[in-house]
Formats: sequence, structure tokens, C-alpha cells
Amino acid sequence: MELSPDYWNKRYLEGNTPWDIGQVSPPIKSFIDKLSDKQLRILIPGAGKGYEAIYLHQQGFTNVFVCDWAEEAFQTLKTKAPDFPLQQLIVGDFFKLTGYFDLILEQTFFCAISPVLRTAYVQQCCRLLSSGGQVAGLLFGTTFPTPGPPFGGTVAEYERLFQPYFHIITLEVCQNSIPPRLGNELFFHLALENWQEKQNKIPQ
Ligand SMILES: C[S@@+](CC[C@H](N)C(=O)[O-])C[C@H]1O[C@@H](n2cnc3c(N)ncnc32)[C@H](O)[C@@H]1O
Repeated sequence: MELSPDYWNKRYLEGNTPWDIGQVSPPIKSFIDKLSDKQLRILIPGAGKGYEAIYLHQQGFTNVFVCDWAEEAFQTLKTKAPDFPLQQLIVGDFFKLTGYFDLILEQTFFCAISPVLRTAYVQQCCRLLSSGGQVAGLLFGTTFPTPGPPFGGTVAEYERLFQPYFHIITLEVCQNSIPPRLGNELFFHLALENWQEKQNKIPQ
């Protein structure tokens, strides 16, 4: 199966979006509620309907960028937050994105990409972060019996993936997941230290 923009657009058009929880994910909301700097440059890749972006926008965060290559996904965000800056809605491929952000928020994007792209995801996060930048959000802490997406994983696998590039602040089972995901979701929080050394490590 080709996980192309057409594939994802079709799923939005058909309303075949079982990942869509219809609200900002509670663990991410808790994380956002602890952020005080409303100027932070925040990127949400594979943002879909953008509930996290809408919440950030409502809380007064002004530099929130969403990226999704399925244009159809953004209709909800445009309707629910009509004053969200259009130039901060990026219709495009996360892996081709350029620019600098202080924080990348992850909500069911990582699990939607082919596992062969996971190292590229970590490297692209590094490339897009400013010095001291961070990644935070949710990962599935379980594998699935049926072919993905979603593609799951384990703590050990994620440690192997992230440790070469990031300091792992948190990687643990989430206590405040939505009920259907409780116990199967990990909250992760990574910090990019030694920025120049890490940039030298990744293909530019
Ligand atoms: C499972 S959905 C999650 C959407 C949203 N984060 C949510 O939780 O409702 C995955 C999203 O990632 C987007 N996506 C997949 N690969 C992408 C890529 N390479 N660049 C940008 N968006 C991508 C899809 O279009 C889709 O909207």
C-alpha cells in the first residue's frame, strides 16, 4: 500500500479516520498547559484536523505551524479556528520541510509513516529544531497484529532510535490517555543537545 497524499486525502473524504479523537489529546494538553512562552515556534507534523493546533491557538500561542500533505485534513482547522494564520498551514511533505522550530509535537503522525522512515523522521526532527529544541508527544507502546497504519513499537525500539540524536527526558506509559488507548500509549519528551554535533551527524 502506498501511503501517499492521495491515500490520506481519500481517507478524510470518506470519513475513514479512526485515529481522530475529536479533541486535543489529554496528555498533550497537559504538556501544553505547562508551557509559558507563547512565542515558541511549534510544529505539528501530520497534524490532520489539528486539534492540538486549535488548542494552542486558543491559548494564545502565536507561532504554531501545522504540516500535513493531505489538504483535505485542514478543513476542520480552518472552520474551527478561522483566524489561524493561513501561512502557518503547510500543505506538504514533512520530510521536505525546512525552517527552524523550538518544539515539535507528535500526535499519531509517527505511527502513520512506514517504519522504514523512522530514522529519517528522527533526523528530520533534528534538522528542523533550533539549538535546545524539543520533541514531545505520544507513541504507541504496543505492536499491532494487523498491517499498519498504525505501526506500533516498543520502548526498547524507541530508545534505540532516539538515543543517538536526543537526550530522552521522558519515555513512559501515559497515565492520562483516552480510555481506548490507556496502557498502550507512551508519552515521550526529547531534548536536542549539542546541536552542531547532531547536525554534523545527519545527512543534509
Ligand atoms: C493517522 S493521521 C493523524 C492525524 C492527526 N495527527 C490526528 O491525530 O488526528 C496521519 C496524518 O499524517 C499525514 N501524513 C502522512 N505522511 C505525511 C508526510 N510525509 N508529510 C506530511 N503529512 C503526512 C496524513 O495525511 C495524516 O493526516
